[in-house]
Amino acid sequence: MDLLFSGGTIVTMDPERRVLEGDLLVRDGRIVALGEIPGEVLAAGHGQRPVDCRGKILIPGLIQSHVHLCQTLFRGQAEELELLDWLRERIWPFEAAHDPESLRVSAELGIAELIAGGTTACLDMGTVRHTDAIFEAAEETGFRLTGGKAMMDVRRGLPAGLREKTSDSLKESDRLRERWEGEAGGRLRYAYAPRFVLSCTEELLQGVAERCADGARVHTHASESQEELAAVRERSGLDNVAYLDRLGLTGERVALAHCVWLTAREQRILAETGTHLLHCPSSNLKLGSGLAKIPELEALGVHVALGPDGAPCNNNLDQWVEMRLMALIHLPRVGPAGFPARKVFEAATLGGARALGLEQEVGSLEVGKRGDLAVLDLQRPATLPGGQDIYSRLVFSAGRDCVETVAIDGQIVFDHGVFLTLDRDRVLREADAHARAIVGRIG
Ligand code: GUN
Repeated sequence: MDLLFSGGTIVTMDPERRVLEGDLLVRDGRIVALGEIPGEVLAAGHGQRPVDCRGKILIPGLIQSHVHLCQTLFRGQAEELELLDWLRERIWPFEAAHDPESLRVSAELGIAELIAGGTTACLDMGTVRHTDAIFEAAEETGFRLTGGKAMMDVRRGLPAGLREKTSDSLKESDRLRERWEGEAGGRLRYAYAPRFVLSCTEELLQGVAERCADGARVHTHASESQEELAAVRERSGLDNVAYLDRLGLTGERVALAHCVWLTAREQRILAETGTHLLHCPSSNLKLGSGLAKIPELEALGVHVALGPDGAPCNNNLDQWVEMRLMALIHLPRVGPAGFPARKVFEAATLGGARALGLEQEVGSLEVGKRGDLAVLDLQRPATLPGGQDIYSRLVFSAGRDCVETVAIDGQIVFDHGVFLTLDRDRVLREADAHARAIVGRIG
């Protein structure tokens, strides 16, 4: 059945950045018409499910480009720590304590939070073991996921549950790619996820680089904290991004989370190779890592996307908060007109689509793209009257409480507070039980 979103303001994010008044029709999962839709186009379908959007705003589904769904159950369990201590003392022991069931619930809880906030797709880092459970959660909830298992073959400092051999890490990643790439009608995709340089041998990184040269996507962390950067320099003799570049791990199929600490040469490498930078402002602030120079990098031509990182370094998965921070934190440096809200909204939609390699499929509301979108109600005390600039309204005033309806691939997954593809009460109950069990396992 078609979905007919009728009578709204459509923020298309198309190449002309048109904002249209009218309807939007989704048929067989794709947008087939928007604006003023001719009667014969409407009549050609097999019935319509109408969504009344009068007085509402339609936006492309938000795309969170750097998420750790495996960490959702650890929210609030790793406070006041700098990156490497945060990983060694809290996050790695927690991840090692997952079993397939707890991982699945962690992913479901994260996906529920993402969907309720108008997010329709994410790039996920996974964990070392049981990563099928994350894909299964995305498959069943109707969410659009590009994910991979975290690869970690450097044993030092790791709990036993996360240790793996180089060959096993590559083999399991290849198996997961074979199993999930293109599943659920293309909604699920694979991206190799070497965790970061410090947790990967050069042999492993080279194995990933070979696969990348053959067309695979890659998702990793780089240059997040100064302590990490110093350790990478000590090991490789190079700065972090320069080292990845030397190995062949830059380019349009590579997405690097954070990139807070870059040399001028590394900035140019990102711009010239088309490598995606996944900006995570809340996480960078909460872990005290620093501030990536996003307006300057964007002006150089770097592809910027946006994400929340994992729940324990944020402590939300809320793209509205990330947008607001991204829009604000750089202004003391570049001035109040130095980075307009439109650019932030671009990073949260089109930038994410590009980082996931899905720019032909999602990120904007255009004929031929998948039906991934959110309907917002801005007729609220906090968002009225709002002014003329729709992007300022979205970035500075709106929030996830404005999200009314969410569709992914032409399927409504969230409607007026109700999840249609997951059992909210079960997920909350099981999340609580599994989070306690994990704390118990760690002791
Ligand atoms: N670097 C390596 N692993 C991680 C992680 O789980 N979170 C963050 N923020 N940085 C990392």
